[in-house]
Amino acid sequence: MRLLFLGDIVGRSGREAVLAGLPRWRDELKLDLVVVNAENASHGFGLSPQIARDLLEGGVDAITLGNHAWDRRDLIGQIDQFSQIARPLNYPVGTPGRGSCVINISRERKVLVVNVMGRIFMDPLDDPFRAVEQLLSQHRLGVTVQAIIIDVHAETTSEKMGFGHFFDGRASLVVGTHTHIPTADHRILPKGTAYQTDAGMCGDYDSIIGMEKGNALRRLLKKVPTERFQPAMGTATVSGLMVETDDKTGLALKVCPFRQGGDLSPYLPNF
Ligand SMILES: [Fe+2]
Ligand SMILES: [Fe+2]
Repeated sequence: MRLLFLGDIVGRSGREAVLAGLPRWRDELKLDLVVVNAENASHGFGLSPQIARDLLEGGVDAITLGNHAWDRRDLIGQIDQFSQIARPLNYPVGTPGRGSCVINISRERKVLVVNVMGRIFMDPLDDPFRAVEQLLSQHRLGVTVQAIIIDVHAETTSEKMGFGHFFDGRASLVVGTHTHIPTADHRILPKGTAYQTDAGMCGDYDSIIGMEKGNALRRLLKKVPTERFQPAMGTATVSGLMVETDDKTGLALKVCPFRQGGDLSPYLPNF
């Protein structure tokens, strides 16, 4: 199975770059499934129901979120209508939405997509390791689902790396999101799980993690409150990674970065 995972979409520039490129990438890379993190898709903060629909109609199969899940309040009341959106799994019991979704590619091919949030320098939440372990006990990789993708939305490289090793051999892909900067450590772990500490963002990199530079710098330099951050509107780099998996085992065969457009050096998978 050929999977594309794209990191946090930030604002209009990120959205437009993803939607403009996806039909061609789906075709050229023969993608079976596209997952995006869209916690910053609506003007940098949250995901509106309309933008969720635009992404899902524009070639995205599943959407993950993170700490900005509820910045657009209108999603809170509507998220239960979206079977393809996963918000953090370790949110308290009773939180709207779901922490994972199963996407049917065909009758014989299903993919489990999980979103979970780290706890270091983040909101205090339930143990993300136990939450995912309990969820995975309900699925069998290569039997009930042909692939499992875990988006670990976390601040620290250590917590994400820990996640990769803890679930090595039990998921097709463990990929980090949230820092908006792609890391160069994509690889297949010893027991067959593809891993990258952070997928990077789909947004304008001539910015401070996707936000317009001036305002963000003023806040850093003067330590005074400023106006609300605005997303940078220059050309976006679409950043993520592509994985090829074996349907029979659900484990990864190949992993490769994906970067197109904007300021970062381009990279297109060649498998
Ligand atoms: Fe983000
Ligand atoms: Fe985040």
